[in-house]
Amino acid sequence: MHGGGSTAERSHSHMWLFSVLGLVAGLALMMLVPRLKPLEHMLLVQIALYIMGAVVLLASLHTLVGPSMHRHHLRHSGGHPAATDRYDFGWHPGMTAFPLTAALVLWGVAVVLQGTLPLWWPLALLLTLLAANFFAGYLIVRTTTRADRTALPMVDLFQGDHDLILDAGCGAGRTTLSLGRVLKQGQIVAVDRFDADYIDAGGRDLLENNLRLAGLTNRVRIETGDLKRLPFEDQTFDAAVSAHALDHLGPDKGQGMREVLRVLKPGGRLLVVASVPGWTTFAIVNMLSLFLMNKGGWRNLARMSGFELVEEGDFNGFWYLLVRRPA
Ligand SMILES: C[S@@+](CC[C@H](N)C(=O)[O-])C[C@H]1O[C@@H](n2cnc3c(N)ncnc32)[C@H](O)[C@@H]1O
Repeated sequence: MHGGGSTAERSHSHMWLFSVLGLVAGLALMMLVPRLKPLEHMLLVQIALYIMGAVVLLASLHTLVGPSMHRHHLRHSGGHPAATDRYDFGWHPGMTAFPLTAALVLWGVAVVLQGTLPLWWPLALLLTLLAANFFAGYLIVRTTTRADRTALPMVDLFQGDHDLILDAGCGAGRTTLSLGRVLKQGQIVAVDRFDADYIDAGGRDLLENNLRLAGLTNRVRIETGDLKRLPFEDQTFDAAVSAHALDHLGPDKGQGMREVLRVLKPGGRLLVVASVPGWTTFAIVNMLSLFLMNKGGWRNLARMSGFELVEEGDFNGFWYLLVRRPA
């Protein structure tokens, strides 16, 4: 199900590259670095490097072959990838393994630098701080991928109890479930292309299973569609949510916003949750976070797409913007 996505959407397909780099770094930390002459008599440092190398190696291996081994196991045990009895949002193991691996590799390099070139201690210190930052990123990603983590901020989104809500870019349903729990009587339409390679099998099977477990099957309609060309009539929905999805559209974010505006009824609100440059995103992806669109960019984009700004705030280390289609 891998359709032609934009570069931004496909960035996660480089997961294999990170894994291979991780394997090389892990092997180096285990096999080569502890044998460096200046480290010969530092037994504790050598042990630490062996341990770091082993963890990096295992995390990279898990990223590389984890998902396919899991599917292989399910196929041979007669199971179905989605037929679990607990919520599963199918996140690729690389999402957590990447910041952990980066932290350990940087720590390893800092330790080696300190051991071999003590005069370079400022650089070793900088690398240690960066490693600690990546480790914090690892902890953040771990909590965001948990099934019991709140997926949406508390904002005034609905117009009434019987609203029809759009979940634009629903993935395996983390946000759909949150909406369904609050909106007790309304209906939700969950739309996605279901081709993200960082979600197990694109997420559609998992979404169906998660909805079944939550008792929401009758109130959620699943649609396969592109956020840039939503498959709905004008002015269909009372409100919409797009969490961590519109920011995956690269240069087409504006088109995505205009599409949501088109399908919203006048007065309908859209809640966007996005990653913006800041400490949290720096902890997760480091320098890459500087290339994310900032809050001002999102506000401008919303205004230029025809929305009025209602509210904004920080949420779980990310950021949300609540906007409204003018009445
Ligand atoms: C990070 S996931 C977020 C899923 C869910 N909203 C959540 O917060 O857990 C991003 C989702 O956006 C979807 N997506 C990205 N670009 C899309 C597009 N052009 N059309 C439809 N869905 C898209 C991906 O398939 C993926 O499921």
